[in-house]
Amino acid sequence: MKHFIDLHEDVGIEELNYLLDIAADMKAKTKAGIEHHYLKGKSLAMIFTKSSTRTRVSFEVGMYQLGGQALFLSNNDIQIGRGETIHDTANVLSGMVDGIMIRTFAHQDVVDLAKYGSIPVINGLTDDQHPTQMIADLLTIKEVKGELKGLKLAYIGDGNNVANSLLQACAKAGMDVAIASPKDYTCPDKYVQQALADAKITGSKVLMTEDPYEAAKDADVLYADTWTSMGQEDEKAKRVEIFKNYQINNELFSVANKDAIFLHCLPAYRGYEVTEDIIDGPRSYVFQEAENRLHAHKAILVNCFLNS
Ligand code: CP
Ligand code: NVA
Repeated sequence: MKHFIDLHEDVGIEELNYLLDIAADMKAKTKAGIEHHYLKGKSLAMIFTKSSTRTRVSFEVGMYQLGGQALFLSNNDIQIGRGETIHDTANVLSGMVDGIMIRTFAHQDVVDLAKYGSIPVINGLTDDQHPTQMIADLLTIKEVKGELKGLKLAYIGDGNNVANSLLQACAKAGMDVAIASPKDYTCPDKYVQQALADAKITGSKVLMTEDPYEAAKDADVLYADTWTSMGQEDEKAKRVEIFKNYQINNELFSVANKDAIFLHCLPAYRGYEVTEDIIDGPRSYVFQEAENRLHAHKAILVNCFLNS
């Protein structure tokens, strides 16, 4: 079964390049109006227990463009929200659809869905990881910079799901990766160790620091995410205080490479993790990055559905 739950476990180094290649190919086909119904007649169940704009729309439209269909299942509407188990849900959906994409809180729930079901499972974000975002991010960097290997990406902010996945993705892609977070908000060591192991193979470097300027130095990509992730809303005031020196702004860009670009998974909060002039300025590729979610997710879908 070909799942896409954890980049480190589920995606090999060559497979990552393959996903980027087929995403680029399907993007070109989409722009040229060339039909590519690789998943004709297939159905994807999309379970959301957290909000989404990009992930929902891209998977739904992606399935349509691939000749299949997607079902939006909010936990307000399906029986999971009333206590039906992941085990039973996995069994039931396995009998009716061809794959599941799930966005939820506990990473273990996604792992369990795959364990108890008999169809591919795609992780649309958990508290721990956001792997589908990475394929779009790498695709965007490749489009703008021409290649990935040898570049440096610096993530400034909370050591959250996006940061964990960036560690995994950059090391696998042969990019240097630097993460700057306040002391008690850094990425779990598990992700650092995974990145170090892959970096050894691909010849890249991993830097964990509390200093945003050390991370941003000579970087080709500066990357931000919200300081307050979904589920942490009660901590917002405290987090704004803790992360106030972790903003991406012109001053931070002054230590990066002169043609460095800005990326953000979105949604963004201007004036907090990034200044308005950066996110709305010429260095920003955030909307190309957002569009690339569509093309990246189609690649993930094709790879999971056709290789399971
Ligand atoms: N970046 C991202 O996952 O966006 P959504 O929360 O809108 O899906
Ligand atoms: N870290 C953010 C990413 C949103 C796409 C969150 O989990 O809310």
